[in-house]
Amino acid sequence: MPQKDAITLLDDDHKKVEQLFKDFQSETDRGRKEHIVRTICTELTVHTQIEEEIFYPAFRQKVGDKDVADDAVHEHQEAKQLVSKLESQGVKDDMVLELQKLIEHHVQDEREKMFPQSRSAGMDLDALGTRLEQRKQELMEQQTV
Ligand SMILES: [Fe+2]
Ligand SMILES: [Fe+2]
Repeated sequence: MPQKDAITLLDDDHKKVEQLFKDFQSETDRGRKEHIVRTICTELTVHTQIEEEIFYPAFRQKVGDKDVADDAVHEHQEAKQLVSKLESQGVKDDMVLELQKLIEHHVQDEREKMFPQSRSAGMDLDALGTRLEQRKQELMEQQTV
């Protein structure tokens, strides 16, 4: 399988989580809903970490749009607070909906601002894709779901 570039890899993660939120909304079984939320939390934890360790620093260096990068990190912080609430307090539907809205907004910003800027600034998206993939695998192995 050919290596995905950084944007394809990150946006595939986004699509996966978007689908999981849809699955959550249409699922009626409580146990399955809770399982879906645990998967969403794991995916978001790993995704935000690889962006913050690898993609965002490369973006800051090459594109240098501080506002876009700072805003993205701020939105990650908000998402992480909700994820830890869901993990510690159990699954509440209104909290899941709040997280879904936040993530939808955040993903839209990455798709419409950060990713196009990254392409036009000539970031090395293939090399970054390789690093993101490796780090993602490492972190996924550390997650116990
Ligand atoms: Fe992302
Ligand atoms: Fe992000």
